[in-house]
Amino acid sequence: MEELDTPAYVINEKILERDMRLLRQIADQAGCKLLYSPKASSLAPVLSTIGGYVDGFACSSLYEMRLVDELCRGDGSLHLVSPLIDGSTLDEFGDRLNYVTFNSLSQWQNLQAKVSASTSVGLRINPELSFIHDPRYDPCRENSKLGVPVSRFADLMAENPAFLNGIDGLHFHSNCESIDFASLLATARHIQDFIPEALEAVSWINLGGGYIFQSVEESAAFFETVALFCDGFGLQVFIEPGAAAVRRCGSIVATVRDVFEGEDCQIAILDTSVNHMPEVLEFQFEPDVLGHVDDGVHAYVLAGCTCLAGDMFGQYAFDTPLTIGSQVTFMNMGAYSASKAHRFNGVALPAIYTQGDTGRLDQIWADKFDNFANNVGSSTVAPA
Ligand SMILES: Cc1ncc(COP(=O)(O)O)c(C=O)c1O
Repeated sequence: MEELDTPAYVINEKILERDMRLLRQIADQAGCKLLYSPKASSLAPVLSTIGGYVDGFACSSLYEMRLVDELCRGDGSLHLVSPLIDGSTLDEFGDRLNYVTFNSLSQWQNLQAKVSASTSVGLRINPELSFIHDPRYDPCRENSKLGVPVSRFADLMAENPAFLNGIDGLHFHSNCESIDFASLLATARHIQDFIPEALEAVSWINLGGGYIFQSVEESAAFFETVALFCDGFGLQVFIEPGAAAVRRCGSIVATVRDVFEGEDCQIAILDTSVNHMPEVLEFQFEPDVLGHVDDGVHAYVLAGCTCLAGDMFGQYAFDTPLTIGSQVTFMNMGAYSASKAHRFNGVALPAIYTQGDTGRLDQIWADKFDNFANNVGSSTVAPA
C-alpha cells in the first residue's frame, strides 16, 4: 500500500458489502427489520453503501438525521433514539421522522405534544440484566441513565395499565460487541417474564445493537429471540447494529517514524495515535495488527506520536523487523474510530480512502491545517 498518505483510514468496500449481505440475510431469515446506527461510522461512502441493504437508519442526533436524510435514506424509515431528545429536532423533522424512542418517562411527557401524528412513539427500557462487567459500558448498571428500569415499568403497568397509552413500541440495547446471542435471548425472556402485558399492548420492539453477527449458523439464539417477540406477541422486530456492519471493513494504516530501545523491547513511534482510535484508550484493549505473530522474533511496543504516556497500542511481534518507513496496519477499526477521532497535539486526522473490488485506493478526504485552525471536525478547543 505504498501509495497511501499515512495515517490513513481505509474502507474496504468488498468487506463492507460482504458484512452487509450477511446482516441482510440474517434479518430476512429472522423476519425482522434491519436498521443501521450511524454512530459507529457516518462516513459518506459507508452510509451510501449501507443504504442499499437496510430498511432504515437509527440515528441519535439531529446531525446524524440530516446526514442520513440527505445522503442515503432512500425509502428507508428514519428512527431517533437518544438519552436526550431536543424538541427542536422533532420540530425540524416533523413527519419525516418515522419512529422516535424516548429514554425516560419525563422526556416522553415533556415532548409528546411535539411528536408528529404519523411518528410512532417508543420507550426505551432497561432490562436490568447485565452482561458487561465494566459499569462504564454497561447500560444495565446500577442507577443507569439508559431507559426505564423494567421492574419500575412492571409496577407502573400494575398500578395503571393506561400509562402506556400513546406508546407503540419498546426499545432496549444492553450489550456491547458480543458474539453470544444467548445473552440476547436471556434478555428477551427476562423482559417477557416482567412485562408480558406491555408486549401484548405494543406493536413493535427494537432490540438495539451491541452484537456482532458471525454467520447464519451461529445466529440460532438470535432467530429464537426474534421469534419470541414476533410469533409470541405479533410484534414487528427491529435491530439497529452499528459495529456489526462496519467494524471489519475499516483499517488504519500508519508508518513507523522512529525506532529506539526501551527497557526490554524496542519502541516504534507511529504517525498515528490513540487520537485516531480513541476506544483503544477508553476500553484499554490492544487492537489487531496485520502481520503480528505471537512468537515473532522482532518485538516492539507500538506507540502513538502524541505527548500522552499512555498513547500506546501494545506489544507486538513480527517475523521481519520494523524500520523507519515500515507500514503498520491496524485491523477491525471500522467502528467508532473515525466518528470519535480528534486532533489532540495538533495531529491531523487520518486521510480517508476507499478500496474497491480491484484493490484500487481512492483518497476521498485529507485533513488540512485550516480544519485544525477553525476547529472543523475536531474536539480541539482554543485556549482561553
Ligand atoms: C441505542 C443504541 N443502539 C445501537 C447502538 C449500536 O451499537 P453497536 O455499534 O455496538 O452495534 C448503540 C451503541 O451504543 C446504542 O446505544
